[in-house]
Amino acid sequence: MKYELPEWVAEWARKAPSLKVTPPGPKSMSIIELDSEYVSEANDRLFKFVMHKASGASIMDADENIYIDFSSGVGVMNSGWSNPKVVNIIKDQAERLVHSLANDSYFEYQAKYAEYLAKKSPGGVLTKCFFGNSGAEAVETAVKLSRYHTGRSEHIAFMGAYHGRIGNSLALTSKKTYKHRHGPMSPGIYFAPYPYCYRCWFGQEYPSCGMLCLDYFEKAFLEYGGPSGDVASVFVEPIQGEGGYIVPPKEFLPRLRRICDERDILLVSDEIQAGFGRSGTLWGCENWDVVPDIITIGKAGGGGVPFGGIMSKKEVIEDWKPGSHSSTFGGNALACAAGYAQLNEIVENDMPKRAADIGEEAIKQLKEVAEKHPMIGDVRGKGLMIGVEIVKNPKTKEPYLVRTLQQICWRKGLMMIAAGMNFNVFRIAPPLVISSQQMSDGIEIFAKAITEVEREEGIK
Ligand SMILES: Cc1ncc(COP(=O)(O)O)c(C=O)c1O
Repeated sequence: MKYELPEWVAEWARKAPSLKVTPPGPKSMSIIELDSEYVSEANDRLFKFVMHKASGASIMDADENIYIDFSSGVGVMNSGWSNPKVVNIIKDQAERLVHSLANDSYFEYQAKYAEYLAKKSPGGVLTKCFFGNSGAEAVETAVKLSRYHTGRSEHIAFMGAYHGRIGNSLALTSKKTYKHRHGPMSPGIYFAPYPYCYRCWFGQEYPSCGMLCLDYFEKAFLEYGGPSGDVASVFVEPIQGEGGYIVPPKEFLPRLRRICDERDILLVSDEIQAGFGRSGTLWGCENWDVVPDIITIGKAGGGGVPFGGIMSKKEVIEDWKPGSHSSTFGGNALACAAGYAQLNEIVENDMPKRAADIGEEAIKQLKEVAEKHPMIGDVRGKGLMIGVEIVKNPKTKEPYLVRTLQQICWRKGLMMIAAGMNFNVFRIAPPLVISSQQMSDGIEIFAKAITEVEREEGIK
């Protein structure tokens, strides 16, 4: 089935890709110069790109270049940039109230949004929420709650995991460079192998491996080594995001659920990136019919307004008594209203199905491209969470940093950002309203870019 752009997408946005000047143009450069003087360099801004406006699945930069967007503002704009239902609710809300004081009193959209999330939660059983301001804060909240509920203090995360960049969420994140000189990290956090089958930690092949990584998880982490036996929760991304859009085998999450159940350990599904329809189901864990105890949400959850929070089973979160947790901006008026509207757009327009269908077709097209390009090591994904792993040589699988590829794509009018522990995964995560045509056009740009890279590298 071919999908068109929604009617509300602006005329200019339908012209993507369309470049007026070679980016970065003069207007972009003047903003970048100002920024360089006064804004910290801590963010790794890979290319000189200045956002001006966006609609549907297209972005315009400060020099009126129009790009197809394969990033969604890093997985935020799931129901499409400038979706009028989201924009209008923000406008209406802002005219009445910007800050809701929801931590000290009550606010309509905090209650309504929590109810909506509860009804749409996996199995309908994660029926109480706590709202904060970012993904990292959502993870902090889940750490606190899982400790409080179990009376235990240790956590297991996975190699390749990304859960945030502050406090416990940074400690739960696997990449060393993010932690460098920011220690000491919180104690009691352990990393187990995620089933990254393209680069199996044990040199095995699926399915003949018999999911050795989970045998190891049970033995090394829960029986004979690792934590003291005081594990409060396991944090898992149902599909690893920053780690490289890694889809685990079908046995992984269900068995992890069983392992946690047998030991009364809480299972936290970090859906900050995989949630809100991105992976072809509303929640990533629903791809395998797994119901976690807590879900962390962020990114798309605020419809573009800063947001983070948790959805929890009632019996877990009800342990918290008044004063157990709070945040000045939690339950923020704009975030809750926009999040509510975005969730409604995703549900009412069955965007998870749209993501599943467009994603399936895209993977098919990408696999055809891969046949002609030795630098494409792996194509994988679910819904509109697709990773293309780039290697110097398919036999050695030596990672190839996608920076050059990214620059070429950008100059051809395709906005994308990388993922992967070695920044060698071409990440495809467009707004779920992208059309079938835009998706194919983006893949064509990628194919041209990889051809150029292979030529430059002398590979083909
Ligand atoms: C799975 C996951 N968890 C947590 C986070 C942290 O969210 P934030 O950047 O809003 O703190 C991210 C961000 O990329 C993420 O992908």
